[in-house]
Amino acid sequence: MSTPSLLILPGDGIGPEVMEQVRRVIGWFDDKRGLAIDVSEDLVGGAAYDKHGVPLADETMAKAQEVDAVLLGAVGGPKYDNLDFSVKPERGLLRLRKEMDLFSNLRPAQCFDALADFSSLKRDIVAGLDIVIVRELTSGVYFGEPRGIIEEGNERVGINTQRYTESEIERVARSAFELARRRSNKVCSMEKANVMESGILWRDVVNEVHQADYADVELSHMYADNGAMQLVRAPKQFDVILTDNLFGDILSDCAAMLTGSLGMLPSASLGAPMENGRPKAMYEPVHGSAPDITGQGKANPIACILSFAMALRYSFDQGAEADRLEAAIEGVLADGVRTADLLGEEGVTPVSTSGMGDAILAKLDASL
Ligand code: IPM
Ligand code: MG
Repeated sequence: MSTPSLLILPGDGIGPEVMEQVRRVIGWFDDKRGLAIDVSEDLVGGAAYDKHGVPLADETMAKAQEVDAVLLGAVGGPKYDNLDFSVKPERGLLRLRKEMDLFSNLRPAQCFDALADFSSLKRDIVAGLDIVIVRELTSGVYFGEPRGIIEEGNERVGINTQRYTESEIERVARSAFELARRRSNKVCSMEKANVMESGILWRDVVNEVHQADYADVELSHMYADNGAMQLVRAPKQFDVILTDNLFGDILSDCAAMLTGSLGMLPSASLGAPMENGRPKAMYEPVHGSAPDITGQGKANPIACILSFAMALRYSFDQGAEADRLEAAIEGVLADGVRTADLLGEEGVTPVSTSGMGDAILAKLDASL
């Protein structure tokens, strides 16, 4: 493969701080593993708004379409709360997802053994947890028309539309079944077929795809509210959870907390295969811009570094190097290195964002 290209969009809040540590990791793989990556960088979210008056410039959008992968930090912050809806930082992120057609959002929730005590749930419920939520990312109520706030009589009405076509459901279902085959071969699909027609269609199509091409995968269905309850009751019953855009947004935050800290979770948003056979892709930590700790050197860079590990695996064909990076992070956590989001043990002093970066680079060195 020719030199892979990566567009880095640090964004807002802690995005730039955690991305700084990813750059060091990229540098390490270049120096020590001969893994050259053609890295470019641009603005998204509030940072783009400040410079261009829009949360994603057209040139940045065009660049994102050309590279092998995009790595995004975070968008948003209180400074932008009062902006018009159309230029809010989040619109930049949603435009990337939509125009790159990244319909399959993989959100792994894995509980590192060293962190099992940080979960709000009891250790035995989460220790060894390893599930992935596959969230549909380009349709549903996030994008459905009609939408808006209209006047009706003497009051305003807020409208959003949940809308799914069969082909939209089919393609994300396929990606969940494919993923399950590489894991424990189980998919649980979640919707609200008891109250929503879109949920009835969702269930039908998932069953059809299953029967036609993936009968070897164990499939179950759950109403999304029950799914939320089961996620905190007995999360280890799941392997792959397949769900729509809005339920996936909510269920993935819930799943994230099972692992102890939002600061640990990466994600991959994948689209259709490009000419080189690999999917169009954007990687991002699940945590947001965390304005409350921005600029204090407290942010945990692990979610963003793990997102780069996912890029190594899914976009750059470097599964063994992704394993190496994930093992280094697991090792650092086993050694007791903690950022401020991971406190609570006796006598532990937190390291800074760059201190965590130092520890991970040292572990990578030790892996050679
Ligand atoms: C997420 C976030 C986004 C979403 C926001 C920032 C638009 O919550 O990626 O989960 O709602 O999809
Ligand atoms: Mg969310």
